Amino acid sequence: MRVNTRSGRTGCRIVDLPRIADPRGNLTFVEGSDHIPFDIARVYYLYDVPGGTSRGGHAHHHLQALIIAAAGSFDVGVDDGVHQERFFLNRSYHGLYVPRMTWRELDNFSSGGVCLVLASAPYEEDDYIRDHATFVAAAGAERAQADAA
Ligand code: TYD
Repeated sequence: MRVNTRSGRTGCRIVDLPRIADPRGNLTFVEGSDHIPFDIARVYYLYDVPGGTSRGGHAHHHLQALIIAAAGSFDVGVDDGVHQERFFLNRSYHGLYVPRMTWRELDNFSSGGVCLVLASAPYEEDDYIRDHATFVAAAGAERAQADAA
């Protein structure tokens, strides 16, 4: 199912980015801590993604991200350990804000699809949670701790 939910129960939400329309071509920009709630420490992008393959499949202890379909389209499935949502990204002026401790999977890339990611921290493998069961357990433990506080 392809649902473009603008703001959901997982804490992920679509951010409307500025769009400077111009007959010469449109322009969108992102300023850290203004359009998104973090300073941008790193930019990376996925491209030449073969049809039928998926990317992501992990969460982060600390990292926050904004995911943009800079070209083409793809789906992003997100999971906070309890709730799941699916976002369809197909506009260069929409970003999907993904908070820390959110499992994400990207799939259904269109031909020529480019996924631009603005990240809150440099690459650090120790920040990744790459096993889903481990992620669900860690998210549950955080929830229990917050409920007890
Ligand atoms: P990974 O984050 O698992 O890719 P995705 O979530 O998009 O499927 O990264 C794949 C590989 O690339 C992994 O070996 C780590 C490396 N990598 C870096 O070296 N620097 C980076 O900034 C990123 C995002 C990945």
